[in-house]
Amino acid sequence: MTPALATFHLKHLDALENAYQRVLDEHGYSGVLLYSGHARQHFGDDQTASFATYGHFLHWVPLPGIEHGWLLIRPGQPPLLHWYAPQDFWHLTPELPDEPWVERFRIESVTEPGPPRLPSGRFAVLGDVEADVATALGAECNPEALTIALDELRVRKSDYEVACLREANAQAWAGHRAAREAFDAGAAELDIQLAYLAASRQRESAVPYQNIVGVNHHAGVLHYQHYDIQPVRKRYSLLVDAGHRHHGYCADITRTWAGCDASDTFGALIDGVTRLQRRLIASLGPGQSFVALHERMHWELGHLLASQELVSCSADAAVAQGITYAFCPHGLGHLLGIQVHDVAGRRRADGTPLPPPAGYPALRLTRELVSGMVLTVEPGCYVIPMLLAPLREGAVGRDIDWDAVEALAPHGGIRIEDNVLITTEGHDDLTPAV
Ligand code: GLY
Ligand code: MN
Ligand code: MN
Repeated sequence: MTPALATFHLKHLDALENAYQRVLDEHGYSGVLLYSGHARQHFGDDQTASFATYGHFLHWVPLPGIEHGWLLIRPGQPPLLHWYAPQDFWHLTPELPDEPWVERFRIESVTEPGPPRLPSGRFAVLGDVEADVATALGAECNPEALTIALDELRVRKSDYEVACLREANAQAWAGHRAAREAFDAGAAELDIQLAYLAASRQRESAVPYQNIVGVNHHAGVLHYQHYDIQPVRKRYSLLVDAGHRHHGYCADITRTWAGCDASDTFGALIDGVTRLQRRLIASLGPGQSFVALHERMHWELGHLLASQELVSCSADAAVAQGITYAFCPHGLGHLLGIQVHDVAGRRRADGTPLPPPAGYPALRLTRELVSGMVLTVEPGCYVIPMLLAPLREGAVGRDIDWDAVEALAPHGGIRIEDNVLITTEGHDDLTPAV
């Protein structure tokens, strides 16, 4: 941690101590015990799956990947970190960094996993724990109201969190540049992925989500999960949706590039989606409804499809008939932080649910924007046969140029995704400029 980030982190902890005190008082708890979690073994095996430390634990302790850690928060007391440092010659035992935050915690080093004993009072345990662990401690296990209230503390990012998100973006951006260069040189999906990881300086198990590296029609699979090992003969497109973590905070960036065999229409659509995204970002600021922005994305997408003669109806009709939904079934964006799809996107600040509108079930952010939020803005346009095929049967099918759609299909799709901070004046795009 740089000295500047360390100073921000101490202020972040000050604010967190005050906020936890308020929430614990309001909900009538003496304290809360946060569990980092630990990697799970595959069934019948001694190997573990990759692991992400619990978000509320990381909100305090800037060490992603820590396992078997317990953090006890009690108003008026320093945070108590139960630090698991086993005597283990098979693995490297974790060591606490030489950073100022460590002085602010009371640290108890232990060699056996398991929770600390709790003092008397009303306590909650939050994290990936079994109910009987909480019961044995005399505590409540993941009470919903308290969890929702603590989730809300992650909605407005502190200066420390914004600095982490900005750095995660800078690291991810280096990967995106390398991925594009690898594609232009004729690399296969796996080699593009490896170029991304090398340039962004991270191992695959540390990425915030499985990188999406889709060449040609794979770019139209929203969460495409494979890496082909053979290069393609014709290069139409590359979609890379990939991030980075900095002290646990995630970047989530997507870029789409036209290959040497791309059609003019595909190039025009990339340009159109990019401009659309820039217009939406330019309009961001506190007080806005993200649902309204998502609806505007659909209307603008209708215009783009019409301008490229993929549809012959008006933008309004393309939205109303579900054509734009078939071309872009995911939401415009989501909150971003310690989790890629960060908590509390579908709740009001008082915790009441805000479900997505009926026509857009995948929208992950339904609340009004406030300063301090960091969110993604990620419009897209894809050829997804299973969504388009049903439109072909009905009257709406006459509004679509199916030959043009078929010519576009080998390109898969387009997504352009930036990470944006809402400020009191408007916004600040954390993703480096193209
Ligand atoms: N990378 C997943 C998403 O953009 O939501
Ligand atoms: Mn995203
Ligand atoms: Mn993404």
